[in-house]
Formats: sequence, structure tokens, C-alpha cells
Amino acid sequence: MPQANSDSRKILITSALPYANGPIHLGHLVEYIQTDIWSRFQKMRGHECHYVCADDAHGTPIMLRAQAEGITPETLIARVSEEHQKDFAGFNIGFDHYHSTHSEENKALSAQIYNRLKAAGHITRKTISQYYDPEKEMFLPDRFVIGTCPKCKAEDQYGDNCEACGATYSPTELINPKSAVSGATPVEKDSDHLFFELSQFEDMLKEWTHQGHLQPQITNKLNEWFEAGLRGWDISRDAPYFGFEIPGETNKYFYVWLDAPVGYMASFQALCEKKNLSFDEFWAKDSITELYHFIGKDIINFHALFWPAMLSGADYRTPDAIFAHGFLTVDGKKMSKSRGTFIMAKSYLTHLNPEYLRYYFATKLNSGIDDLDLNLEDFVQRVNSDLVGKVINIASRCAGFVVKKFDGKLADSWSDKAQALYSEVVTEADNIASLYEKREFGHAMRDIMALADKANEYIDETAPWVLAKAEGKEAELHESVSMGINLFRVLISLLSPVLPTTSEKALSFLQLDAYRWDDIQTPLMGHTIAKFKPLMTRVEMEAVEKMVESSKADAKSAMPSTPDGKKGDKKSTTKSKASNVSTELEPIADEISFEDFAKIDFRIAKIVKAEAVPEANKLLKLTLDIGEHEKQVFAGIKSAYQPDELEGKLTVMVANLAPRKMRFGLSEGMVLAAGPGGEDLFLLNPDDGAKPGMRVK
Ligand code: 2FM
Ligand code: ZN
Repeated sequence: MPQANSDSRKILITSALPYANGPIHLGHLVEYIQTDIWSRFQKMRGHECHYVCADDAHGTPIMLRAQAEGITPETLIARVSEEHQKDFAGFNIGFDHYHSTHSEENKALSAQIYNRLKAAGHITRKTISQYYDPEKEMFLPDRFVIGTCPKCKAEDQYGDNCEACGATYSPTELINPKSAVSGATPVEKDSDHLFFELSQFEDMLKEWTHQGHLQPQITNKLNEWFEAGLRGWDISRDAPYFGFEIPGETNKYFYVWLDAPVGYMASFQALCEKKNLSFDEFWAKDSITELYHFIGKDIINFHALFWPAMLSGADYRTPDAIFAHGFLTVDGKKMSKSRGTFIMAKSYLTHLNPEYLRYYFATKLNSGIDDLDLNLEDFVQRVNSDLVGKVINIASRCAGFVVKKFDGKLADSWSDKAQALYSEVVTEADNIASLYEKREFGHAMRDIMALADKANEYIDETAPWVLAKAEGKEAELHESVSMGINLFRVLISLLSPVLPTTSEKALSFLQLDAYRWDDIQTPLMGHTIAKFKPLMTRVEMEAVEKMVESSKADAKSAMPSTPDGKKGDKKSTTKSKASNVSTELEPIADEISFEDFAKIDFRIAKIVKAEAVPEANKLLKLTLDIGEHEKQVFAGIKSAYQPDELEGKLTVMVANLAPRKMRFGLSEGMVLAAGPGGEDLFLLNPDDGAKPGMRVK
């Protein structure tokens, strides 16, 4: 372990807690990689630094997901926690502790914070009217009510906003509302809810949000919210709900977002148990330790308003900073399942070295909140040119000479000229440290690569391969290759927060025990190194292509089998968010009898003609050949397919559906498609062996 130096700081760092109902994907990893680099950097500087996280395990989607899978929520979250931790370990995210919000620590802390807020008069009770599913006997979150938009009349819209026209409204304004859980028509029902009175913290928050704890863009956003006025925050949910029961209430649970950030404390408390640390030292009101939360920019309200208010109202310290980041795009577009760019951590790891992505993200990350792009061609080129071509190459160019000609021993003295070069390079370390500190990782990477260029120029100039063949040039050769190895050691030390595995391998080559930032200043003199083994291979474009192909295939095979494809969590289709895209599937509909099922006549259909319906946002008009005759079907797949890419393709249709008269003509059946919606909708596409008109059984 690096020793703390005299300016040692005590730092607690968190990343947002991923929901326990979906896999980790590259969008999430922007945040975990960013936080991990920062945490490793702080540790390397000799500071006491703890990085904690947990699964965010509560809420309606997790409850329904477990029901749909026929398992308990506890079983679901245990499985997902294991999957998440495996993915994180695969990317070398070095949490000091990974917990769950569904834990004893979290239950106790959430109750304590709530009780303190209540005792201080910050909790109020109001009756609100909400949609209730009479069949499932549950209140419906806005996202679980679907109906026709009251503004533009687009069908099949969520209860909070319309995808077609962007209008926002409350679920009770939807025309023809339906429960997404059971399909039943919801009824309005009153219930008492508990509110955290944020407006009581207005002064505190106005002050706190202007004290340098937030990025400037975020402060601006908050100013807008202050102008709009702070309202009470509804922190209770009625049973059935998967969460913690609210102390002193019957059948009321904390809303998932109440106990989620408390999960940061709970995870740290579990770490304290493990490592015998003091919880109070980090969380007491007068704490002089540092606390930082890394989050995606979409959850800023929870972290920059509710969370500091909750902490301060419950007599805890507030965070030193909230570090928000932007979302991930791939090849300039939002991540897409159909393009194969919605890439799960697991699929990435099957095809590629995690260090490539850690480095590439580092080159793109900064302290701002703009989105960042993973351009797949640039990714290959950048990693190969920088890491393999510049950095690793230095070691491979010099190590052979050191081992063969000098028994692995580096020179024990060198010329003034060599010393001057070494000093010139290592004086940059301070600047690079301050870039890491400010989370300007892209800038730090550029500066490190400029040093790598300098090192390669030195090797080119001194040309050890020429010196090795010349008579009487032993000392020069020894200096040249010893300098090369020393410069490599500086570079790999500077990169070690980004490249934990490669730098770890380099430790055994360099015969060192650890990287400490301050050690960079002292060159390795008369030090013996080991034989060089390749530390990293080039990225091959073919591997990237395979990853994209397999992501397309995974997306197809993971699609729900419901014909209309509507809708899992809208988040997964509308934004490639960095932190919390959920790939949640929608709940299984009510059972039907075998007799009902047997009535459906599925036929192979050839799409003879596909035309856009200009007046309709979502519809394509398909002419389908089902053997004996043709049928016309209007299908809501315009967002996913160009008409001409469909012509000539086979698909499956329900051929005996009663014809429906639509505004644009008669629809004589239904084609089968699956997917969460938007461009991620996939028409069933049978093998070429199938013939139009064949019955599908
Ligand atoms: O947005 C999300 O993915 C949440 N699960 C993040 C929670 S962060 C913290 F507050 F717990
Ligand atoms: Zn609308």
C-alpha cells in the first residue's frame, strides 16, 4: 500500500448505484471508469481514499420484474448483484466495497434519517389522488400508465410525457388510459403520502449550490429550479412495493430515491466494519474528510437538491462536490440495439481488452457535462497508436538490449544530458497530477502522449540498435536503453490509474512493488529488470466488428415475445444514458387458454411492398403475400425500418385478425415485431427456407 504523505487527505468517493434489474453496458461504464481512475489516482498520491458503491435494489420496476420472472425480488437482486460485480471486476473497477440498498445498514440509516427529518418538522402528510390498477391492486407509477396523448392524440404514450409531440402531462390527462401492468383501465384513488418539505431548505440550498460544490452548468440549472420554486418531494409509496417500510406507518414504503443515496452511507458503513474505519469521521456534521459523488447529469436533482437537504436536515455533513458527466454516444449517435452499439459490458469483455476502453474513455473525459462519443474506428486507431505504438513500444525497443547486453541491469549513472532529459520529463508530473485532480483526463492523456513522443524521439536519435553493433559504444548503449526503460517507467506510472492491469504487468517487468506518484522523480539507477513480455496487443477492427455483430444478435434474442413490442423502460430507447439505461422488459400479460392461442393463425408472409404513410408518424403500409392472396397491413414500425429495406423479406403475420378500418385504409392483420420501441423494433424474420403462406406452429 502506498504510504500517506504529510499532506494526506481522507477521501470518500461514490459512483451512482446501478439499478438491480438490468445489465451493465458501456454507457454505465463511462461513470465507473471515470470514478475508478480518480480513485486510483488519489490512492497513488498517497491519500486515504475509499471508493464505495452498491446495487440500487428497490422500486416498482424491480418488484414487477421479479414477478414476471416468477422469483422473489430478493432472488432477482442477488443474481443481478453478482452479474454487476462480475462486469465491474472485468473492467477492473476497484471498489473498496460493493453493497446493496436492500441491506440492514441501509434500512437502519434510512429510518434514522427519516426520523430525524420528521422530528425536525420537515415531513408533511397530504392526500393525493393517483391512478390505481384495480386488477393488480396497486398504485401505478406514471410510467406504468399508457394511453393516448391529450395534445397530439398519438396512441400508446406514457403517463408523464408524449414521445410523439413532447408534451408533458399527468397520467390522469391521458385519453383511454390503461395499466401497463395488467391492461386494466385504472381508476383514480386517494391515498396519504409523506412529503419531504424541500422549501424549508431553500436558503441552505441556495447557499450550498453556490459554494463551488457543483459544475457551473449544473449551478445554472439549479438556479432555474429555484426560480420555479421548490416543492415538497413525495417520499412514500403504498404497498405493494419492494423497499423499506416507513417507520410508524402501515403499508407505506420509502420511495426508492429516498433510500438510494443513503446507500452510499450504508456501503461505507459496511466497509467500516470490514476495515475498522470510523463512520463518523466521514459523515459527522463537522467532518473534515472529503466526500465526492460521481453521477450522470440526469440525476442531478436528487444529488444537488434532495440529498444535501436530507443530509443537512438529519445533521450529517454535505458532499464536497457532485461531479456530473454526460451520456455516451457511439459513432456519433445514441446507442442502438439494432445497430449493435448498445453494448453490454459482458459482450465487450468477450471480444476486447478492458484497458482499451478505459484508455479511450480517459482520452475523452473532462470535467464538463457534455456527452462523449465512442467512435469505433478512432478507438482502434487511438489505442493502437498511443498505447501499443508509443508507450509499450518504448519498453519493447529497449528491454532486449538491457537483458542481453547488461544482464538486465540499468546504468547506475548517466550523463548530464540524460539527466536533463529525465528532469524535463518528470517536471511534467505535477501538471499531469493537477489535470487528474481536476478530472481533465483527456488533457492529461494528451500530455502523457506528448512525453511518450519525446521518449521515442530520444530512442530514435540515440539509435540503440546502431550502438549495439558499433565498437566501443557500450556505455552509450547502456545509457540510451536505461533512459528508455526509465522513461517507460515514468509513462506507465502516469498511466497506471487508467491502465491497472497493464501497469501491474509492467511492475513485474520493472521489478517494482507499486507505483507511487512521488517515486516518479527518482530514476531507477543500477536497478535490475526482468525479461520483457508483451504487455498489450493491438486492437483488431475485426474484434470490434464481432462485438457489434454479437450485440445485434444479443439484442434480438433478448427481445420480449409480445407482438406489439410496447414497452419496457422508455429510458432504454430514448437516451443512451451513461448511468441508468434500463433494459427492463415489460411484465408478462395475463394467461390465455390453449384454445385461445390455437385460434391465432400465424403465417409466413413475404413483404411485397412497403410504403411510408406520410400522415402517420409511426406507420408503414405493407403489402403481404401469404400464398394464396395478398393482405394489406399497417404496422407501427416506421421508426425502425426504411420501407425499401423490407421489400422481399419474409416475416410472420397474424392472418386471421379481424380487419380494422384505420384512417389510412383497411388493416387486415398484424405483423410480429418485438423490441422496446423507437428504432429498436425487430420484425420477426424467418429463415429463407420458409415459404409465403406456410402456417407457423
Ligand atoms: O439513476 C439511477 O440509475 C439510479 N439507480 C442511481 C442512484 S444513485 C444514488 F443516489 F443511489
Ligand atoms: Zn403528443
